[in-house]
Amino acid sequence: MKPGKFITFEGIDGAGKSSHIAGIAGFLRARGLTVVPTREPGGTPLGEKLREWLLRETMHLETEALLMFAARREHLAQVIEPALARGEWVVCDRFSDATYAYQGGGRGLDKTRFAQLEQWVHGHLQPDLTLLFDLSPEVAGRRIAAQTRALDRFEQERADFHRRVRLAYLERAAEAPQRIAVIDADQPLEHIKRLLETTVVTRCL
Ligand code: TYD
Repeated sequence: MKPGKFITFEGIDGAGKSSHIAGIAGFLRARGLTVVPTREPGGTPLGEKLREWLLRETMHLETEALLMFAARREHLAQVIEPALARGEWVVCDRFSDATYAYQGGGRGLDKTRFAQLEQWVHGHLQPDLTLLFDLSPEVAGRRIAAQTRALDRFEQERADFHRRVRLAYLERAAEAPQRIAVIDADQPLEHIKRLLETTVVTRCL
């Protein structure tokens, strides 16, 4: 059996990654692969309950970071690791890079804590490829402002929060260029789609 791959999508709110996840899943399925699309926080019944709290409830900043890792532990045990063990491909909307970017860069928590939690929760497993959608917070903010639905706690943050999140993501990408591919998200959808497919083919297939 060929081993499955673990691909994550990252970026600031409004960078547009969500619209491309289904596209990549379809692209991989068309090559005969079994794909498990999932997301964080969430991806399991318990994780989705934690997501509701994380996106809506006011809480201590460290509680927020710890709940992200708690939801992740469950997600790895219930969904990600079993799928990879079956040789399936996991396509995940956000993973630990989001905690470094949002709770580290955005909230200002010490990232050495995340390194410890990361080691504990998934020291044995990192994504094979992370597609980081990079976009200026100004453009992303305009996209979010155009939404008609209620905004969550993170989307409601000001532009300087998203600026710090973006910088923390780019710092992660500079530290792990072999894993994280930075995608310029300020391009027509079709260009981004082709770029994502080429990146997945060259790095994972
Ligand atoms: P998001 O992918 O933006 O969901 P949607 O596209 O449905 O709005 O994810 C929800 C939010 O969770 C997002 O604003 C970033 C935040 N988040 C963190 O702050 N830390 C984390 O570790 C993760 C996984 C997400």
